[in-house]
Amino acid sequence: MRIAIIGGTGQMGRWFAAFLKRKGNTVIISGRDRRKASRVARSIGVEAAGSNIDAVGGADLVIISVLPPYLERVLREISPRLTEKQRVIDITSIKAVPVRLMHRYIKRSVVLGTHPMFGPSADTKGQNFILTPTNAKEKRFARELGRMLSDYGFSVRTTTPEKHDAMIGYILSLTHFIGFVTADTWKTLRMERYINASSTSFKFLLKFAKSVVDSDPGLYSYIQMDVPTSSKAESAFVKQARMWSGIVRKRDRSRFEARMNELSRYLERLEI
Ligand SMILES: NC(=O)c1ccc[n+]([C@@H]2O[C@H](COP(=O)([O-])OP(=O)(O)OC[C@H]3O[C@@H](n4cnc5c(N)ncnc54)[C@H](OP(=O)(O)O)[C@@H]3O)[C@@H](O)[C@H]2O)c1
Repeated sequence: MRIAIIGGTGQMGRWFAAFLKRKGNTVIISGRDRRKASRVARSIGVEAAGSNIDAVGGADLVIISVLPPYLERVLREISPRLTEKQRVIDITSIKAVPVRLMHRYIKRSVVLGTHPMFGPSADTKGQNFILTPTNAKEKRFARELGRMLSDYGFSVRTTTPEKHDAMIGYILSLTHFIGFVTADTWKTLRMERYINASSTSFKFLLKFAKSVVDSDPGLYSYIQMDVPTSSKAESAFVKQARMWSGIVRKRDRSRFEARMNELSRYLERLEI
């Protein structure tokens, strides 16, 4: 299959370009800077296009891999060139607004909102890939794409764009929020003084918090601020932190132990 990746110079775009090439596809990438696109393409061993328009010409599948604020501009630019035979997916981390934009601009090709639930350093095996079809044509395409992604080792899930975004508030926004607060608390407490005596659990948490704060602030602010359920999830976190702090301050050992046991049983059920 011939696959064009717009934003193929970015983190996810490069990852998909290399991955899809390894799977036997012909891949062509574009970015805003033609020289950068050529450099990146050479390093991965794929083709570079001089522009987004050139990239989509002749592609069976177009993958749009740009940050949310740039999506509309890309759609406006490529839509006049797209044909009925072509398929277009975006991989934006939120889905309701991007899917609406794709419907607004792309009238001839079949479109599909997707969200790979992993970053560019991940191993594909068992990683979740969410598809958000909204009508019969998109559902058919989602089944086809889903089969291909399953063959590639992904766990494919289908939902609506709105349900996807509601879920993202709990799965991504809350997780990132815990990372920011953890790193900020350590900074406030000047934890560097104790780093040489750190424990296994501290090192584990340090790795997690570092992976969160080292990510792209532009993308992460979007996930925090434009997902409707983020603030609900974060309020629950703050409330539970206060509750735990109350148990500790009151030295309520029996409640502490009962709650820990209850949570252990709960997480056992959640384990994947
Ligand atoms: N990073 C993650 O962990 C992750 C996970 C799942 C989904 N996603 C989604 O994947 C998408 C890409 O994220 P990313 O982390 O790869 O971001 P990124 O590293 O910033 O890459 C975005 C790319 O978009 C390109 N771009 C911007 N405007 C463009 C335009 N008008 N025409 C062509 N290319 C343009 C940029 O190219 P140049 O700068 O070279 O011009 C840049 O390389 C986002 O929608 C994000 O929500 C990210």
